[in-house]
Amino acid sequence: MILVTGGTGLVGAHLLYHLAKENDAIVAIYRTKNRLEKTANVFAYYTENFTALFNKIQWVQADITDIPSLELVFSFPIIQVYHCAALVSFNPDDYKQMRSVNICGTANIVNFCIHNSVKKLCFVSSIAAVGDAVEDKIITEENEWSDTDDNHGYAITKYGAEMEVWRASQEGIPVVIVNPGVILGSGFWEEGSGKLVRQVDKGLRFYTEGVTGFVSVKDVVKAMILLAESSVKNQRFILVSENLSFREVFSIIAEALGKQKPSIKIGSFVTSVFWRFDWVVSKLMNRQPILTKNSAKSVHNVNRYSSRKITEEINFIFTPVTKAIQEVCENYYL
Ligand SMILES: NC(=O)c1ccc[n+]([C@@H]2O[C@H](COP(=O)([O-])OP(=O)(O)OC[C@H]3O[C@@H](n4cnc5c(N)ncnc54)[C@H](OP(=O)(O)O)[C@@H]3O)[C@@H](O)[C@H]2O)c1
Repeated sequence: MILVTGGTGLVGAHLLYHLAKENDAIVAIYRTKNRLEKTANVFAYYTENFTALFNKIQWVQADITDIPSLELVFSFPIIQVYHCAALVSFNPDDYKQMRSVNICGTANIVNFCIHNSVKKLCFVSSIAAVGDAVEDKIITEENEWSDTDDNHGYAITKYGAEMEVWRASQEGIPVVIVNPGVILGSGFWEEGSGKLVRQVDKGLRFYTEGVTGFVSVKDVVKAMILLAESSVKNQRFILVSENLSFREVFSIIAEALGKQKPSIKIGSFVTSVFWRFDWVVSKLMNRQPILTKNSAKSVHNVNRYSSRKITEEINFIFTPVTKAIQEVCENYYL
């Protein structure tokens, strides 16, 4: 059977749809029942008759930090694992929990994979876990990670998780790691890139000139399935369709939604003042900060990534970002 972790998140939900189309034996884990609706909603973007596909999935309640619950999961004859579950946060207050979920949780999955001699482990990492650019050159899978004070908690824990996955490869489990850029996909409008769409819809006026890599969720899950089913092993692949500035991406979203493009440029001084002010307000009001120190910095960083490796290894062709955003924005109004 195929196991998917994080099936109630953006990547896992889209992955499950594509896997369920072609496979009958799928196990997926969930933590709370109300999140299953999110996955069903994603299936509904693809087809009206999604219930039969959704019902093919054997859902097991489990937490990747809880070994007894994982024992139940691995009581099924699992031969392939797609590990998508993670805590994605740029809030320094979440660092301890991110270490627990992203590093210890991945170590648990790896231990079960080794114990059950699974045939392939596909892990979703991030461009955050790839080393920084050297002399502003384009970043590849070969860029070395360096332990600097500039690394934020999410990046450190995704890198730590990758170390656990490489341990699996040392123990003889064939692994593939994908390192996607910012993932554009439908269905999770309060989180990640979905939140960007919502903000532009609400009339976002501001932009920054920071540049990063973007990729469609459909490309991410297609690449994962192709790599998991191929003979490729013990490799990592950056998944970035295009490197674009936040200004460009906000403008493409605005155009697709028929809204006004953000027109006020925000410099690093403004964001550095704002995150401090927001930190105080978030503490007083006991809410998540809108902008953290890390995200305030990252929206100005200029990082360009190369996906040449995957295009050469499996002839992968990426969807242009404009096309991916148009599709997401059509679904936003459904
Ligand atoms: N979204 C992006 O732009 C992006 C970019 C690059 C890489 N990635 C990576 O892609 C992967 C998937 O990201 P995503 O955007 O799909 O994230 P997401 O929407 O936040 O989903 C995270 C998933 O992980 C599950 N999860 C969290 N903690 C767990 C735990 N302790 N035990 C079991 N499950 C747990 C969540 O379950 P609940 O539903 O119960 O919370 C949810 O299903 C992550 O590894 C992330 O680092 C994401």
